[in-house]
Amino acid sequence: MSIFKTDILVLGSGVAGLSIAIKTAAASPDKTILVATKAHESESNTKYAQGGIAAVWDKLDSFEDHIKDTMIAGDHLSKPEIVKMVVEEAPDCMKQLINWGADFDQNLKGEIDLGKEGGHSANRILHYKDVTGYELEKTLLEQVDNLSNIELLPYHFAIDLITDHHLSKKKNEKDLSCYGAYILNQKTNKIDTYLATSIILATGGVGQVYAATTNPVIATGDGIAMAYRAKARIVDMEFVQFHPTSLYQPGESPSFLISEAVRGFGAHLRNKAGDRFMLKIDDRAELAPRDIVSRAINTELIFSGDSHVFLDCTHLNMTEFVKHFPNIYDKCKSLGIDPASQYIPVVPAAHYLMGGIDVDSNGYTTVGNLFACGECSRTGLHGANRLASNSLLEALVFGNKIAEEIINERSHLNLEDIPEIPEWDEEGTMVPKENVLISHNRKTIQNIMSDLVAIVRSNERLDKAQDHLNYLFQDTEKAYEKSKLSPQICELRNLNAVAYLIVQQSMSRKENKGAFYSLDNF
Ligand code: FAD
Ligand code: SIN
Repeated sequence: MSIFKTDILVLGSGVAGLSIAIKTAAASPDKTILVATKAHESESNTKYAQGGIAAVWDKLDSFEDHIKDTMIAGDHLSKPEIVKMVVEEAPDCMKQLINWGADFDQNLKGEIDLGKEGGHSANRILHYKDVTGYELEKTLLEQVDNLSNIELLPYHFAIDLITDHHLSKKKNEKDLSCYGAYILNQKTNKIDTYLATSIILATGGVGQVYAATTNPVIATGDGIAMAYRAKARIVDMEFVQFHPTSLYQPGESPSFLISEAVRGFGAHLRNKAGDRFMLKIDDRAELAPRDIVSRAINTELIFSGDSHVFLDCTHLNMTEFVKHFPNIYDKCKSLGIDPASQYIPVVPAAHYLMGGIDVDSNGYTTVGNLFACGECSRTGLHGANRLASNSLLEALVFGNKIAEEIINERSHLNLEDIPEIPEWDEEGTMVPKENVLISHNRKTIQNIMSDLVAIVRSNERLDKAQDHLNYLFQDTEKAYEKSKLSPQICELRNLNAVAYLIVQQSMSRKENKGAFYSLDNF
């Protein structure tokens, strides 16, 4: 087991982690930056983003309208000052991405082609075909390659943050500081100690806490669970966004996304009888905010007993459709579905967490030296329901804020001032003979959450979920204590913590807002 010291420790290599690393490294060539990430460096929610990034780019659009759309989608729980800041800084962030080499689609006039998605009153989504996230992640990793003071550590799994709890000297909760993290090097199987003057959680979302999700397998809420154990404030966990249109493909996980941009391009939702049911629900029909569309589909499915509804693209210009959505078109064709003549079967799936680690307008958590950015953080931008394509944007804007704090050494702790930190005390030595014990509990958590804590909740469902999760918590803690640590057991423990937080904070919400809907709140 080794001890490593660095100026900045970033956990996660999606848009949040990489953009902070790049900004800081370029402005402060004397600072060393380590980016530890638990899988291949490109694996992240970021890589799978389809629709694009929202920014006011057209003269006919305005900051006021983007602000208004964000507030309406968030059911007026967003923080107005944060919404204003993010919206106004969006165009500069897009220019920064273009400078870094990101490619966005252009129209025949050579202008950026702006897409539309639910809840937006204007075309304002910058995108690269239907694989914007892939283009973004590639661009960021290329920039990282050019900066010699960033070191990427793939297959390094962060287990826990190092805080004053690990020292003998006890402190009040409000004075806690973070000094680094214990990280499992998956190649050597050793748990090393990483110490840093600034630590950034950029560990992404929690989609894997549900059985059906658009999120890749890395999205297990590790950063939120670590922050929770480190006593950081975690808020708004009851607000989980379900994307209305994931491809209905039983047994396939994660679910393939059919971008909202397809509805922005004119596709219609229909039930089995062929009715365009959104017309009777909302004036904006298929382009109402996601919480409304997902709930409407859920209601259709409950009353009809069907397993899915359909997305009808048959009336659209197919040449243009293929140009805009080549990835979605190819996926459908590979399954024998021809969007030109057949409806695409779709169903809602867990997609995004509005809540998370509470941060202020510069990305500081409630624990000293610890920042959080991207989907694991809760900035106040999204309120009760995120406006489509506002999350990549949020990570970029807050990434800049955090980088500025670090560059200007406003969050500083000298490496020499870090107290003596004990090495990881590995008590457990048991190597589970059967991994089924872990995978069974993971599936059980996912089924509990999908059955009882999904689009529509109730007090009775939440009580039952809590009882089940309590039992699983005890079972998992026992296994955790005696096992030799593996990413699988750590992820299970983290999923359990995240599920518990979603249930507990759902129980405290007594009013239906945005993505949170309980049958008991009237
Ligand atoms: P991520 O990109 O998920 O990165 C998290 C990183 O942390 C990963 O590298 C992961 O391996 C690492 N990590 C996690 N735990 C640990 C650990 N214990 N130790 C070390 N490393 C760890 N948003 C938009 O704005 N526009 C879109 O068009 C859009 N489309 C989407 C489509 C899909 C299919 C999905 C799933 C999401 C989409 N989103 C979109 C949401 C958006 O992609 C995410 O919110 C955003 O990418 C999150 O970025 P992030 O950097 O916070 O996290
Ligand atoms: C999509 O393309 O539908 C996803 C966009 C988002 O989640 O913001």
